[in-house]
Amino acid sequence: MSAAARTGDRQAEFHFTPADHQAISAMVYEESAILLPPGKMQLVYGRLAPRVRSCRLTNFADYIALIGHDAKERTAALNALTTNHTSFFRESHHFDHFMEHAWPALEQRLSARGKVRIWSAACSSGEEPYSLLMAMFGKERGTGQRLSRTDLRILATDLSTEILAAAAAGRYALDTAAGVPLPLRSTWMTKVDDRAEVHPLIRDRVSFRMLNLIEPWPIKGRFDAIFCRNVMIYFDEPTKERLQTRLADQLAPGGFLYIGHSERLAASVATRFTCVGRTTFLKNDA
Ligand SMILES: C[S@@+](CC[C@H](N)C(=O)[O-])C[C@H]1O[C@@H](n2cnc3c(N)ncnc32)[C@H](O)[C@@H]1O
Repeated sequence: MSAAARTGDRQAEFHFTPADHQAISAMVYEESAILLPPGKMQLVYGRLAPRVRSCRLTNFADYIALIGHDAKERTAALNALTTNHTSFFRESHHFDHFMEHAWPALEQRLSARGKVRIWSAACSSGEEPYSLLMAMFGKERGTGQRLSRTDLRILATDLSTEILAAAAAGRYALDTAAGVPLPLRSTWMTKVDDRAEVHPLIRDRVSFRMLNLIEPWPIKGRFDAIFCRNVMIYFDEPTKERLQTRLADQLAPGGFLYIGHSERLAASVATRFTCVGRTTFLKNDA
């Protein structure tokens, strides 16, 4: 059955069978742990048809053969298949919690020349780490200037190299930037043509890196807070549990873990935390 036959709409440009879908989902699972069940056949077709076209192929079978041996095109396919939906101050209660319960002690530590490390794991186009920094820098430019001289850093990682390039550029459509509360937006974003640019003092605090959450992490040291939100929804239960265990290991005792609104901690991991708010967890000592 072709993608067009499944939906009864106009003839699809490329022949795409359930076996093709199965081959692509197996590759994607192997590379990223992202699940693409048969119900996602239309989505896969829609995301990859432009790749098939730009590779000047005429069918999915040839495209599947191509991504089997061409690592660059396999990366392009993975980039196309990740869902990067995000927004500034998404699930704003996490930022409120962080500012109220984590930030005062961390700010003190910075004032005493200590270091603070935060991880935005699966950061997509960067709204999450930038929101956090804007919240910390506040609406006074002087506070941000002072903090920019401290040892405060956010590691922001994602699987998609394409979305990371957009994140590092720090330029957003105006309606996207409208999600930043006005006092912060007017201090930390500048309108350039039809885009809003994040201030360099904020951008300089973030290191954007490609990191696959299911592979080994080249990370030394522990984090004071980890935001790992709205990525586990794409994984199966064993993958979620493994990932959560590793996140717990990577978090300093007393640090906070923030997960997405529809995500839960596995029972084996939940014992290492105290739930202190909606999808907000304090890592127990030890
Ligand atoms: C829906 S976005 C979430 C963005 C942000 N954390 C938020 O909550 O708004 C999910 C992100 O997870 C990334 N992702 C998916 N699988 C991944 C993996 N195995 N390793 C790292 N990132 C992954 C995708 O590229 C995508 O940018």
